[in-house]
Amino acid sequence: MLVIGANGKSGLLCCAVARKKVGPKGRVLGSVRGDDAAKPLTESGYVDGIVRADATDAVAFYDAVAEATDGRLADVVISCVSRENCEMAAILTARDGGTVYFFSMATSFTQAALGAEGVGKDVTMIIGNGYTRGHAEYTLNLVRESAYLRNLYTERYTR
Ligand SMILES: NC(=O)c1ccc[n+]([C@@H]2O[C@H](COP(=O)([O-])OP(=O)(O)OC[C@H]3O[C@@H](n4cnc5c(N)ncnc54)[C@H](OP(=O)(O)O)[C@@H]3O)[C@@H](O)[C@H]2O)c1
Repeated sequence: MLVIGANGKSGLLCCAVARKKVGPKGRVLGSVRGDDAAKPLTESGYVDGIVRADATDAVAFYDAVAEATDGRLADVVISCVSRENCEMAAILTARDGGTVYFFSMATSFTQAALGAEGVGKDVTMIIGNGYTRGHAEYTLNLVRESAYLRNLYTERYTR
């Protein structure tokens, strides 16, 4: 599983849940752009590997993920980037038949749909629904049970 924008607010939460869900044989990869962002992600213990790449450069991003996965790519890609023009990075790095979940509000339906068609990629694409039953309680419990998340979010977002 690959989380793009893994050091952001939503990205870290996705990594935390991915860690629980992938099972002993699953791998969680997080993408960041620089060393500053890589540090907290490494310390979190949620990811097995980190990909350092800019998601607006789809080909370079694909190369980085292909290298990190020995060419297998990701079964599930979750895009939590806050920037536009990152659709192709998510689509290219999902394996054929995989799933891309666009949580990012910067996602363009046109770019995603026509982009996947253009590169001949058969993936299931999901628009991130802002609501799911019990989401607030689930997320608060996630933060309550993780001292790491609680401390990091307090440090980052309450100053
Ligand atoms: N679907 C929904 O219901 C819903 C709800 C809330 C928010 N959202 C959307 O979700 C997105 C993320 O929100 P957030 O609060 O998690 O944002 P955030 O905390 O600002 O995190 C955004 C992440 O995107 C990364 N990023 C930015 N540009 C990038 C690029 N060119 N390549 C790779 N990574 C890049 C940043 O990486 P660095 O650490 O390297 O800067 C950062 O980690 C936003 O678009 C937001 O509007 C959706």
